[in-house]
Amino acid sequence: MAWTDAELRTYEEGLAGYYRLRAVHYDAQFQIGAHPIRESWAELAAAMREALAGRAVMELACGTGHFTGFAAEAAAHVTATDLADEMLQVARGKIFPRGNVAFRTADAFVLEALPGSFDAALAVQWFSHLPRARYAAFLGGLNRRLGTGARVFLADGGHDAARTPADSPGRAPYLKPGCEDVYTLRTVPGAARPFEIIKNHFRTEEELRAVFAPYGRDLEARIGRHFWHVSYLTV
Ligand SMILES: C[S@@+](CC[C@H](N)C(=O)[O-])C[C@H]1O[C@@H](n2cnc3c(N)ncnc32)[C@H](O)[C@@H]1O
Repeated sequence: MAWTDAELRTYEEGLAGYYRLRAVHYDAQFQIGAHPIRESWAELAAAMREALAGRAVMELACGTGHFTGFAAEAAAHVTATDLADEMLQVARGKIFPRGNVAFRTADAFVLEALPGSFDAALAVQWFSHLPRARYAAFLGGLNRRLGTGARVFLADGGHDAARTPADSPGRAPYLKPGCEDVYTLRTVPGAARPFEIIKNHFRTEEELRAVFAPYGRDLEARIGRHFWHVSYLTV
């Protein structure tokens, strides 16, 4: 489907609006007891730490900072950004023992407005929300903002069925005629109506490579049980 600029703006405002309303409840998904997803978080954290060690990291769509904490364990510094101040407010209440995290409001599509110099970028559970029609704008913008030779680490979820129980009710994915994106309807307590959110997934490493290879060299692409991740150096 060819999106008009107005349709993209409406979708992206709706996405941020949905997360603004969810901010106070968002961290519940991370507060589960014994669950296999904990192993996946640990695997993801290890890959993230290796990729970002010693780097000045720009994190996009950081949400409440759950994954910021893993990155900050190894990075020199993390500037963690999100468009929703409601999310950042929760993140700012957390303790990052190395004191190397700063939070800023920023739109992941308007990175030229973000001050600072970075040699790495991180985004977790963000890419799946992008319409396929926006991949080039986002990934190209990231490369332009970082310059050549910077590390990019992107990770996102797999099948909804594999997500945590706290984060999965009523989320059957569906397609729309003529559209290449996968949608889910998400409800938030107090919201007048459900939000229609894109949640695209990658099923194979070949699919990951097809999307990310044009933007990076030394591309590592992995599909794990709950998450996929890619790590590459910008070209
Ligand atoms: C699924 S959450 C991911 C949060 C965090 N990275 C995590 O994995 O827990 C998606 C995040 O994208 C943020 N977001 C939505 N639109 C955005 C935009 N245009 N620019 C930056 N962040 C945005 C939301 O506020 C939300 O925090």
